[in-house]
Amino acid sequence: MTEPLHEILYCSVLAPGQPPDVVGKIVSSARAHNARQSITGLLVFDGMRFCQHFEGPQAVVAPLMQRIGQDPRHTLIRVAYQGAILERRYRTFDMGFAATEDPDDMAGIHSLDGEAALQRFLALRPGFDVSG
Ligand SMILES: Cc1cc2nc3c(=O)[nH]c(=O)nc-3n(C[C@H](O)[C@H](O)[C@H](O)COP(=O)(O)O)c2cc1C
Repeated sequence: MTEPLHEILYCSVLAPGQPPDVVGKIVSSARAHNARQSITGLLVFDGMRFCQHFEGPQAVVAPLMQRIGQDPRHTLIRVAYQGAILERRYRTFDMGFAATEDPDDMAGIHSLDGEAALQRFLALRPGFDVSG
């Protein structure tokens, strides 16, 4: 039997006083780690706010969220949505990254909760210029 899959969408804000290369470092280490752990997903950053959506085996997703939640490089960390999925939404990258120039994108998701937050993120996804 295959392992049950789980997805999480959370929002956070870059902690004050971070060096300019902090996001690049987060992304490159996240990719290496996620590839080993069968995590796939997308991290979006608007210069201040993060939204990250990731998926993988339930036994891996929950501890990852716990580690991310304790990371001092960001603050105001809030899980907006989590739930079971039958199949992956991200097949092509371990952790895609997109920088959005439009602050309304992230503000919109940050102001929503639950299914509404997830649906907003998924609706914006095709418009993001994703590297990964
Ligand atoms: C916005 C943000 C997103 C992150 N995304 C991931 C991720 O997708 N995968 C990952 O392994 N670490 C991610 N991290 C880093 C983790 O918080 C943590 O530093 C890393 O898992 C190593 O944990 P460890 O030092 O306890 O081993 C992220 C950190 C931040 C601030």
